[in-house]
Amino acid sequence: MEKVHGAEGILCLLTDKIDAPVLESAGPQLKVVSNHAVGFDNIVVADATARGIPVGNTPGILTDATADFAFALLMAAARRLTEAERYLRAGKWVTWGPSTLLGMDMVGKTLGLVGFGRIGQAVAKRASGFEMRVIYFDPHAAPPPGEKARPVTSLDSLLRESDFVSLHTPLTAETRHLVNADFLSRMKPEAILINTSRGGVLDQDALYDALKAKRIFAAALDVTEPEPLPLDCPLLTLENCLIAPHIASASTYSRDMMAFLAAQNLIAGLKGERLPHCVNPEVYDK
Ligand code: DGY
Repeated sequence: MEKVHGAEGILCLLTDKIDAPVLESAGPQLKVVSNHAVGFDNIVVADATARGIPVGNTPGILTDATADFAFALLMAAARRLTEAERYLRAGKWVTWGPSTLLGMDMVGKTLGLVGFGRIGQAVAKRASGFEMRVIYFDPHAAPPPGEKARPVTSLDSLLRESDFVSLHTPLTAETRHLVNADFLSRMKPEAILINTSRGGVLDQDALYDALKAKRIFAAALDVTEPEPLPLDCPLLTLENCLIAPHIASASTYSRDMMAFLAAQNLIAGLKGERLPHCVNPEVYDK
C-alpha cells in the first residue's frame, strides 16, 4: 500500500491482492492496473471498475505451456513418476519387479475437463494424440466449431464417466471449493485429479481425506491454497499426491510474453489508450 502511493500505474503479480484500500492508497491519479497473469482473482475488479480504472491481463500466450504442464502432471500421476523417483533415491530399488510401481494406462481412457476455455481446449488436443476420449463440462462455453471433445450437461455425468479429471476454470465465487468431498465421492475410485487452475477451486482437506482413504487413485496439483504451500501441509505426506510450485506457465517463452503483454497494458493505460487485453472493458463505456 505504501509503494503504490502516488502511482499512475500498478504492475502486479498474481500474489498481490489489489482491492479498494490499495486503489485508495494509490490515489485519484491512478490510471491502470496491469496483472502479470491471465488469472485475475487477486484483483477485486469491481473496485477498479467503480473508479473507472482499466485492469489488464495476459491471455493466450501461456495456453500451450499450461496445457503441456497439465498433461505432464496427468502422465506423472498416472505413472507415479515422482513417487518412483523418491523410491529410487531412497535406495529401495533392489531389482526389476513385475509389479513394482504399477500405474494407470491412458489409451482409451476418458479425460473430463472442467472448463473448456483456451487451456481446456489445448489439453483436449494433447489428449487426442494419446487416443483418449475427451468430454467437458462448461456451462459458460458454446461448443467450438469442429471440436471433437464431447460436452456433457452436468458435472455429475462428467465425474461418473472420467478416468482423469482436469480443472480449467477461473476462481470465482461460483467455483470456490467446487472440488469438495461430494465432488470427490462422485469420481471413479481409480480416477486421477489434475489442477492447474487455482488452489481455491479445491478443498484441500477433502482432497487429503479422499487420497488418504484411496477413494481416488491420485492427484497432481500445480496450484494450492495458500501459495507457497506450508511444508506441514498433510497433502505432502501422501505418495499419491504430486504438487508443483505453480509453474505451469513457466516456460521461457511464456514468461517473456507475459511480461511483454503486462508491459503493453501498463504503457497503454499510462498513455490513456485502450488496454490491448482488458478484463473490464465497461470502463470505456463511461
Ligand atoms: C496465470 O497467468 O494466471 C497463471 O496462473 C500463471 O502461471
